[in-house]
Amino acid sequence: MKKLSLSRRALTAPASAIRKLVPLADSAKKKGIKVYHVNIGQPDLPTPEVVMQMIHKFPEKTLEYAPSSGMREAVEAWESFYREKNFPFTASDILITSGGSEALIFAFFSVTDPGDEILLFEPFYTSYAIIAAMGDIRIIPVKTHVEDGYHLPPKKTIEKAITSRTKAIVLCNPNNPTGTLYRDEEVKMIRDLALVHNLFIISDETYQEIVFDGKRVLPFATFPEILANLIIADSVSKRFNACGARVGCLVSKNEEIMAAVLKFAQSRLSVATVDQLAMVPILRNHRLHIARIRKNYEERRNTLIENLQRIKGVSFRKPEGAFYIMPKLPISDSDDFARYLLTDFNDRGETVMVAPAGGFYKTEGLGRQEIRIAYVLEKQKLERAMEILSKAITAYNSK
Ligand SMILES: Cc1ncc(COP(=O)(O)O)c(C=O)c1O
Repeated sequence: MKKLSLSRRALTAPASAIRKLVPLADSAKKKGIKVYHVNIGQPDLPTPEVVMQMIHKFPEKTLEYAPSSGMREAVEAWESFYREKNFPFTASDILITSGGSEALIFAFFSVTDPGDEILLFEPFYTSYAIIAAMGDIRIIPVKTHVEDGYHLPPKKTIEKAITSRTKAIVLCNPNNPTGTLYRDEEVKMIRDLALVHNLFIISDETYQEIVFDGKRVLPFATFPEILANLIIADSVSKRFNACGARVGCLVSKNEEIMAAVLKFAQSRLSVATVDQLAMVPILRNHRLHIARIRKNYEERRNTLIENLQRIKGVSFRKPEGAFYIMPKLPISDSDDFARYLLTDFNDRGETVMVAPAGGFYKTEGLGRQEIRIAYVLEKQKLERAMEILSKAITAYNSK
């Protein structure tokens, strides 16, 4: 008789590198140990007051379904957000999703068949690998390195990874997990590669305004020649400290993509109405808020790197965006070290939870000496977390 069995995609999907150590953190906390969480990109800043007010004042008597492509007010708010950025998008180019995560799922699935390839720069955001496993999509990783700030390799190296089955290149700028802001030449290189090789660009713009030192992202949307190839996955989570709102959008000028994505969206009927509406005022009036959080994260970045560079044997390049850094530590196995921090180490009853970098790589064995730190805590807490990290490295290496 046929045995019950799961799909290959279910069995091969990787566990989230960011969440897999949570049970160890929970047992440390049960023992009374305070854990500083720098493992996950959950900002500690409050959600803007206008968002919370909209939630409290939600006017409807019934929680109805919304249109699958999003509520008119929400779509128009995103349209105005993009107008302010001088992006050429109108309402029909925008579909509201349940977070940037769903926009990514729809983007990956709308351009690939099982066995097709998507090119990613590793280290990359872990969910890309989970989505690829869900769709039986092959990830082709192109390596970047801590020594040069995880910037992109030369065009020729990237071209070597492109095959007849490559359908898209994903770029997250600034990048999670590395904090790298890709330079204008790098963005133009990806644009040119997409045009020459007929590839889609899946542009993950979750962190687009969180960029420091007076710099900025060169957005793909400013190039008219690339618009048919471009699919943007966007999100309110990080720029508005509203991760739990679960609102994002998929944006493309390519009508075929939008028609396909609408069918996918119809399968889940609608995104939560309260959340969509709650984000309307901040999307329409975001400048001050974004300027404030940019300054806040820049200060935290500075505090973090000041403290990190005091730790002997740690190497990194100054990140220029998002709120992550991926330093190389003087240890041989960051997975084991991250577990050790939660199971065997504490300094005066306190420890720190980090994300071991292996999970951000596709290539087996890479990232063994790196960890990802999310600087989503206030400055004093970051200083203390780095003090703990420093002591833990010494203790770990003298075991
Ligand atoms: C690079 C990147 N893309 C997309 C997302 C998805 O965000 P959300 O689904 O909360 O909008 C995240 C969340 O951490 C992220 O870091």
